[in-house]
Amino acid sequence: SDGERIALPIVLVGPMGAGKSRVGQRLATSVDAPFIDTDLRIAERYGPIDEIFAREGEEYFRIVEREVVAEALREEAVISLGGGAVLHPDTLADLAGLAVVWLRVSREAVRPRLAGGNRPLIAEGGLDRWSAILAERRPLYEAVADLSIDTSRRSVARIVDAITERF
Ligand code: S3P
Repeated sequence: SDGERIALPIVLVGPMGAGKSRVGQRLATSVDAPFIDTDLRIAERYGPIDEIFAREGEEYFRIVEREVVAEALREEAVISLGGGAVLHPDTLADLAGLAVVWLRVSREAVRPRLAGGNRPLIAEGGLDRWSAILAERRPLYEAVADLSIDTSRRSVARIVDAITERF
């Protein structure tokens, strides 16, 4: 952006551990916009995400996730979506008209980033499960993204610069 204000909302998508929350937080600060992390919003309203998965199942999680995502996408903010938010057809349709950044990460680089996180989908299966899920979703990320950035060996500051240069 040429000294003009960045297009908002700007939406970060990509797999678990790609850095959507860290980059989104820093990008929002850098462009002086609010930051919305849809996972945090879900947890505020419905409780911890692993408990939602355990008690109600993934299908229910996707329903409440869609509600939170739909609301977030109407705000002039930097928005980090949960890795599976693109599975919802209405979210895919919404993203078609927005500035969307796909944060990529290699399997090697994601390993330490996944340690200790609250991630029920890969609680069993670990890195192999992570790779299998990514293989399923890659076409969706590819379809919605205006820009993709490999975060594997880049600092958060450089990733933020790449995004603000493009939008
Ligand atoms: C999920 C990713 C998580 C969270 C939930 C499901 C997924 O978000 O929404 O555990 O389906 O990939 P992050 O991508 O922020 O880890």
